[in-house]
Amino acid sequence: MNSDSDLQIAGDILEVPHLLQPAREHPVTVAEFAGLARAIAADRAQWAPLVQYDATSRWYHRLRTGPGYEVWLLSWVPGQGSGVHDHGRSSGVLTLLEGRLTERSRRGSRTLTVGAQRVFAAGYVHEVVNDSLEPAVSLHVYHPGLTDMPMHTARCEARAPRKPAHDALTA
Ligand SMILES: [Fe+2]
Repeated sequence: MNSDSDLQIAGDILEVPHLLQPAREHPVTVAEFAGLARAIAADRAQWAPLVQYDATSRWYHRLRTGPGYEVWLLSWVPGQGSGVHDHGRSSGVLTLLEGRLTERSRRGSRTLTVGAQRVFAAGYVHEVVNDSLEPAVSLHVYHPGLTDMPMHTARCEARAPRKPAHDALTA
């Protein structure tokens, strides 16, 4: 017993339903979307057998849908990239499952290794490239489902820091 605490449970805790959070079937918060991606990443049997690599065009597969969200599996052979784009009105979570990817945005370039997660809000502009020598696999959760991925003509290059009020990037 914890004699240092004044807090004690009297009676059966299961009889206090207002203290219990029912388990949600589907994620609704950023943390829950990131958690869903981590859970899928940890269960290789869910995604590894499905992965294909296509050197001629980007390969992607819709792994799961839920109310208001979609989960996509993407592969990247060396040299493949997304081009500079945003995600329309969708926000999302990118999780690296295998290999290594480079993400470029106006804030600079970062290397994503296995387990890395990037959370971005609607309107975030970036470019993802496999500039390694090995294939890579990534998992993308979009909320709402991705219906529009406008391409941008300007390259994503790091610029001098801007004042936050003028910075359109949100992630
Ligand atoms: Fe993206």
